[in-house]
Amino acid sequence: MGGGLRRPALSSFSRGVSDSGSETRHQQHRPMIAVVQVVLRHDGKSTDDYRKMQTVTLIPGDGIGPEISAAVVKIFDAAKAPIRWEERDVMAIKGPGGRWMIPPDAKESMDRSKIGLKGPLKTPIAAGHPSMNLLLRKTFDLYANVRPCVSIEGYKTPYTDVDLVTIRENTEGEYSGIEHVIVDGVVQSIKLITENASRRIAEYAFEYARNNQRSSVTAVHKANIMRMSDGLFLRKCREVAEDYKDIKFTEMYLDTVCLNMVQDPTQFDILVMPNLYGDILSDLCAGLIGGLGVTPSGNIGANGVAVFESVHGTAPDIAGMDLANPTALLLSAVMMLRHMGLHEHASKIQTACFDTIKEKKVLTKDLGGSSKCSEFTAEICRRVQDLD
Ligand SMILES: NC(=O)c1ccc[n+]([C@@H]2O[C@H](COP(=O)([O-])OP(=O)(O)OC[C@H]3O[C@@H](n4cnc5c(N)ncnc54)[C@H](O)[C@@H]3O)[C@@H](O)[C@H]2O)c1
Ligand SMILES: *[C@@H]1O[C@H](CO)[C@@H](O)[C@H](O)[C@H]1NC(C)=O
Repeated sequence: MGGGLRRPALSSFSRGVSDSGSETRHQQHRPMIAVVQVVLRHDGKSTDDYRKMQTVTLIPGDGIGPEISAAVVKIFDAAKAPIRWEERDVMAIKGPGGRWMIPPDAKESMDRSKIGLKGPLKTPIAAGHPSMNLLLRKTFDLYANVRPCVSIEGYKTPYTDVDLVTIRENTEGEYSGIEHVIVDGVVQSIKLITENASRRIAEYAFEYARNNQRSSVTAVHKANIMRMSDGLFLRKCREVAEDYKDIKFTEMYLDTVCLNMVQDPTQFDILVMPNLYGDILSDLCAGLIGGLGVTPSGNIGANGVAVFESVHGTAPDIAGMDLANPTALLLSAVMMLRHMGLHEHASKIQTACFDTIKEKKVLTKDLGGSSKCSEFTAEICRRVQDLD
């Protein structure tokens, strides 16, 4: 995938400062001065740029995954984003004890880079084969799912000016996976809420608010019915809010949020909630801005690991046909840049992407146009370069 990812042999691309006339003249007078070599690659990046580069583990995924990943790599190159991609495959394999695991080279890359960008993965149909997404979540303890939903100008939906972020607890709650039959015909499912996981997600929400110049955090809950479990979640949110007096804190019932969300989504800023509510609300909010094809997503894990991903599927019906829309993965990659503190590159790429959609001249089919993925990508690259 993508050109120029490998570091070339130094000699083949080296060019001394002495190439310039003035430097040569200078040397004639002081021949003993060492000439500092500035090594340029064919893409114009110097070795110094290379030192500042950060590694990101790229998991292209299945179906349209490789196409949309290639698009992101191209656009990042055009924007001269200081990222070195390390491509890894993540087919589930059986480890020593018969346990499913992700391949060691993918795990090792993620452990080192701490940052991943991931395309869609097909869920295997074979019985006993685990979902790769679930395996990744478990392997890296990806406890927070973050989805910024921002209205895209020029892409018509029933709503405008939506600008909110859903933050979903992703490790427990209704999805603890603890279910059993009590007697024939009676099944019980356990909703697990812990103090630690609730505090961790609340802290992440407030930190995110602070780091992204957001003004309010709303805890979404049903503590009126689930007094103990949601009560604990809410109590932890309240406690954490005490440490973030600069951020406004509100609490709201899930049903009230749903009602208000469809009436006027612009009143919301950051929403933090347990797993099931987050699963549903995050898709609902994606729908407000045009669906999964344009919604970015990030998963935050323990030990500083983060994986950014598109949340749509592998689109097997159009895979390999150069028809896929790379926007969701691109905006996820923009989110990743912000997470890495590369705000300038993030803004440049986001502007180029939004401007392309706004102008409506070069759009993929799902966005209402007739252009190919490669043409849409080239248009964003052109705009990124124009912004320099
Ligand atoms: N995050 C993930 O890895 C993820 C999420 C959902 C589904 N899946 C997997 O993907 C496979 C297919 O799932 P599905 O068909 O239910 O959903 P899907 O999202 O792959 O496709 C639904 C429809 O949306 C279209 N579409 C999706 N993404 C698009 C894009 N970027 N550009 C243009 N059109 C796009 C598809 O062509 C299709 O018509 C399954 O194996 C499923 O398990 C993976
Ligand atoms: C919660 O976290 C604290 C601090 O990390 C730890 O000591 C404690 O054992 C955890 N509690 C539970 C129930 O896991």
